[in-house]
Amino acid sequence: MKILGIETSCDETAAAVVENGSRLISNVVASQIEIHARYGGVVPEVASRQHLLTIIPTINRAMSGLTWRDIDGIAVTYGPGLAGSLLVGVNVAKAMALATALPIIGVNHLEAHVYANWLEDYPSAGGNGGVIFPCLCLIVSGGHSDLLLMKGHGEFERLGRTRDDAAGEAFDKAARILGLGYPGGPAIEQASLSGTPSVPLPRAWLKESHDFSFSGLKTSMWHLVHRGEVPAADAAASFQLAIADVLVTKTIEAAKQLQVQQILLSGGVAANKTITRRFLNNSPISVLVPPPHLCTDNAAMVAACGYYSFRSGKASDYSLDVVPSLGLG
Ligand code: KG4
Ligand code: ZN
Repeated sequence: MKILGIETSCDETAAAVVENGSRLISNVVASQIEIHARYGGVVPEVASRQHLLTIIPTINRAMSGLTWRDIDGIAVTYGPGLAGSLLVGVNVAKAMALATALPIIGVNHLEAHVYANWLEDYPSAGGNGGVIFPCLCLIVSGGHSDLLLMKGHGEFERLGRTRDDAAGEAFDKAARILGLGYPGGPAIEQASLSGTPSVPLPRAWLKESHDFSFSGLKTSMWHLVHRGEVPAADAAASFQLAIADVLVTKTIEAAKQLQVQQILLSGGVAANKTITRRFLNNSPISVLVPPPHLCTDNAAMVAACGYYSFRSGKASDYSLDVVPSLGLG
């Protein structure tokens, strides 16, 4: 079964065709990063206009060599994300479903991130090649830092989330404080390569819960940089290590408490090698992490998630609408 996935929730226009929820047939991402970098962050109005310009060429590229007869369903992200951006993907998907008489499957962007772990065209970065339910999912993106128990396909129970900034948001803000570019995560990772994590920045452990908090760390970073006593590379490396330490320690602690046998990482921040290496080195149980280009926003994960939703009878209809504040679990 081949699913066409469509993703326009933020600043990437993406389309992909995935077979049986795992094999990538095509995976096209038209990034808007260069356009938004000028403004130091995503400008919603600019993002939706850009989606309008690129969505059809992006889908055509993903469909090259295929006909609509090869496709069994159209999966599209309907939330969470920017309303104007989501609307482009959802309406294009509905129009295409109507024209082709294919089923339409609305997909939760957060759930889609988790399903990047089912995409099989890469050597698993330390996992055992198959997901074992129940497992613990850490989704760390620009808008979310969620810890969830996944009991089966589409069955999530949220254990914790961020109380303030998401991990990716903290990376983006810290990069701005350091005068590095947008998006901040890759910029901080790059700057850290020539620094040492010599500054002991604070960690918010929130020991009584599985929640996260990164705004205090961001404030400490501001004071550190404005005192001007530490090289930027060392400040970046110290910040990255503080985030890695909190994510790894709290996730492994939750895994022990819940007695799960596997941890699934996902979301843009899971593209960070210091963070994934620390997970792989410290976890007593297996850790699955998609390759970096499948951690950041893409439509292959949407198609994979759509496949499992469709298989369990969760197709949508033409009343599908965007839900910008959609949560998971
Ligand atoms: O999942 P994603 O692509 O989009 C959202 O759904 O938000 O995540 C984007 C976030 C941004 O905040 C970006 O700075 C962060 O992921 N990110 C990284 C890295 N690559 C992207 N953070 C740390 N290290 C990276 N290599
Ligand atoms: Zn995302």
